[in-house]
Amino acid sequence: MRAIEIRNKYLNFFKNYGHAIIPSAPLIPENDPSVLFTTAGMQPLVPYLLGEKHPEGTRLTDYQKCVRTNDIDEVGDNRHLTYFEMLGNWSLGDYFKEESIAMSFEFLTKELEIPVEKLSVTCFAGDDDCPRDEVAANAWKKAGIPENNIYYYGKDDNWWIAGEEGPCGPDTEMFYDTGKPACGPNCEPSCDCGKYVEIWNNVFMEYFKDKNGYHKLEQKNVDTGLGLERMTMLLQGKETPFDTELFSPVMKKIEELQKVDNIESRRIIAEHLRSSMMIIADGGRPSNLDRGYVLRRLIRRMIRHMNKLQIELEELKTLIDINVKNLGEMYPELIRNEELIKNVIIEEKDKFVKTLEKGEREFEKEIAKLSNMKTIPGNIVFKLYDTYGFPPEVTRELAEENGYEIDLKEFNELFKKHQEKSRAGSEQKFKGGLAETTEETIAYHTATHLLNAAIKQVIGKDAHQRGSNITVDRMRFDFNCDHKLTPEEKQRIEDLVNEWIKEGIPVTKEEMKKEDAIKSGAECMFIEKYPDIVTVYSIGNVSKELCGGPHVKNTSELGSFKIKKEESSSSGVRRIKAVLEK
Ligand code: ALA
Repeated sequence: MRAIEIRNKYLNFFKNYGHAIIPSAPLIPENDPSVLFTTAGMQPLVPYLLGEKHPEGTRLTDYQKCVRTNDIDEVGDNRHLTYFEMLGNWSLGDYFKEESIAMSFEFLTKELEIPVEKLSVTCFAGDDDCPRDEVAANAWKKAGIPENNIYYYGKDDNWWIAGEEGPCGPDTEMFYDTGKPACGPNCEPSCDCGKYVEIWNNVFMEYFKDKNGYHKLEQKNVDTGLGLERMTMLLQGKETPFDTELFSPVMKKIEELQKVDNIESRRIIAEHLRSSMMIIADGGRPSNLDRGYVLRRLIRRMIRHMNKLQIELEELKTLIDINVKNLGEMYPELIRNEELIKNVIIEEKDKFVKTLEKGEREFEKEIAKLSNMKTIPGNIVFKLYDTYGFPPEVTRELAEENGYEIDLKEFNELFKKHQEKSRAGSEQKFKGGLAETTEETIAYHTATHLLNAAIKQVIGKDAHQRGSNITVDRMRFDFNCDHKLTPEEKQRIEDLVNEWIKEGIPVTKEEMKKEDAIKSGAECMFIEKYPDIVTVYSIGNVSKELCGGPHVKNTSELGSFKIKKEESSSSGVRRIKAVLEK
């Protein structure tokens, strides 16, 4: 069965049990600067797990695009992925353990036709916070799992929470027996010898954890997650996800192009390419901060492994083409954004290539100085990062190839300090335009909101602000857009702003809770974490943005708006310079 067939079977199965099929949220969480990427299907649903009413009802199902980056260094082995797809179904205060388990059992054994003998399950063993989950175990027995295939484990294995705080609860996990011989008399699902592979996790989410401990939620929820790549691999009897149709076309091409053979490098290239493409399609761009830095690391590590296999970097375009063709049916956003994806990856490659050779020479000079030491100090790893753009995993791999280790701990400390500094710097820059508050800068600030709204009407609602800078005599505005604006588009944007100025629309300000502001559709940039109570500026029905102000009282105060220049700012980002003429 192909991955897309498994996905469709899943969604239809749960639809038949009354679940509404909801779309995958983007990989880059909307309005949530606190996490880098969506890491589980439950993440976009947190408000509803906490009791808010979901417009589609109490039974939901979806496929969710996810990126988990804690295991970046492990990619290359036979199972780790940074991007993966999670199939999920939710009960928001609707059914609970018994029904959830009955549905999972039916899906696995009837729809996917997995023989019962291949299944084992684990349940929560109980502790001071929560009792042993006999309800779940009995439901499995009732469904048809033999008693000796039911195991109990503690919080380490059978309790689920995203991060440190939030909704959580005991879970029950399903395992598939690959048929490999047991590694010993104590081989159980919790063992990672490869005999048992976890396929699905049903979380019975009835607690909320905060600094003070566990609290019962008012509503009992079910949150499940099934990893699509893994399930595809198992059902096809393949050893790794790289052997399934999700990766095999690109893996085959890499093998054709390589002049040196290395299976790990092939997997790293294939995996990082797919992840990078998915992140870019959802709006990510390489940078030295946070999400952008993850993307940069993925692309740069991929490039280094292409070099290792002596594959011409020009072939990146061929590999992207193959992935768009192969994955476009599952992810139409790859087809829609094909040019943008190519541009972003090629531009990042060009940047890295410029310093790669110099960096490698520097690396050699540094290790020559180490004499007998076998660990490269963190400050050298940091220097290679800071001066040559070497992500630490690239330096670590270079080091290992030469018989060295790196001091990652010291690097991380230096890196953290550096990130704090640049974050403060970028906030400063953001504020910078308004540091000087004059009549002119206030007018430009309001004009910026109008321009942002006009761009959305003309280019599309996915065009978002990427930056802004104001001085007393001009405004500059960056936004994402995959093409140079046509003269007609520029004209329409300019005309719209001028119409709104002529209409004399009042500018109003209100304070509200952050959640309410976001729910009401107010625009906001991720540039800083907003406090719980935020100020929202509205310009009639034209614009609504989270913003600190100040603004003019009425758009009629602005004069006439004129676009002076439209140019590229970085790949996928356009820049407009404009003035207000009195
Ligand atoms: N949220 C659960 C998981 O990620 C289903 O495993």
